[in-house]
Amino acid sequence: MSYLELTAAAKQQIADIALISGYLWERGWAVKNGGNISLEITGEINLRSSDLNPLTYTPLKHPCPDLSQMYFIMTGAGTRMRDVACQPLSHVCVIRISDDGTGYYHIRDEVFNSPAVPTSEMPTHLAIHQFMKKQGGKNRAVLHTHPIELTALTLIPGFCDESRLNKILMSVQPEAVIAIPGGVGLVPFILPGTDQLAEKTVASLRYYPVVLWEKHGCIAIGHKLQDAFDLIDVLNTSAKLFFLCREAGYTPQGLSAQEIENLKKYY
Ligand code: 13P
Ligand code: ZN
Repeated sequence: MSYLELTAAAKQQIADIALISGYLWERGWAVKNGGNISLEITGEINLRSSDLNPLTYTPLKHPCPDLSQMYFIMTGAGTRMRDVACQPLSHVCVIRISDDGTGYYHIRDEVFNSPAVPTSEMPTHLAIHQFMKKQGGKNRAVLHTHPIELTALTLIPGFCDESRLNKILMSVQPEAVIAIPGGVGLVPFILPGTDQLAEKTVASLRYYPVVLWEKHGCIAIGHKLQDAFDLIDVLNTSAKLFFLCREAGYTPQGLSAQEIENLKKYY
């Protein structure tokens, strides 16, 4: 008997997680357990609060009262994206933030009984969901991954500078300007899974929908998971074009400042 009812919408979110996890693996961005995903699914799950098992309660180091009573689905700590793609229900978990926002309940029952515990990047995911809720827009998806060429750009001495990176990424293809006209943010290397990484990432997301994590990867937000994936895909293609020109022995000429301005106006 299952007391947790996943609506058709929640099932679609799980299907999206499986689809995008497969893309991440195929792209080579998800070596071992690299990357994590979370989606806000409040309203897409039916559960009486009297059904919450107090034994599944975990306090949060940083309470998030703005997310009180909200539900999230996220990939499990240490799970491989290639496994999430094949068997999403065994590698994601559903949590409900407590009424006062000081902790969360891990929802499990006889049917939905994944052994997964939330990703180690949960501090960043929850801080971003809190930020998105305060913003009041449509964004509900958070995607962290390790795109190879994009991350490689942050490894080149002298390149790891927000303005320099934006110049490269935005000038090598019109699609980047059209998809991300405001550019991307950059957070210097910070230990994964920490509150400091969460704090710096949210500060950068105030200005940019994608934030590069130096020497690590990137994180993007969107209404749907596919939207966040597309942004990263476009940026990684820019990085690939840059390296292809370099390999051919050329510094890419890229779009001029005027051409970029024209694109922004036109689109
Ligand atoms: P998790 O397996 O805990 O999600 O961590 C993967 C990762 O990419 C950390 O930055
Ligand atoms: Zn990572």
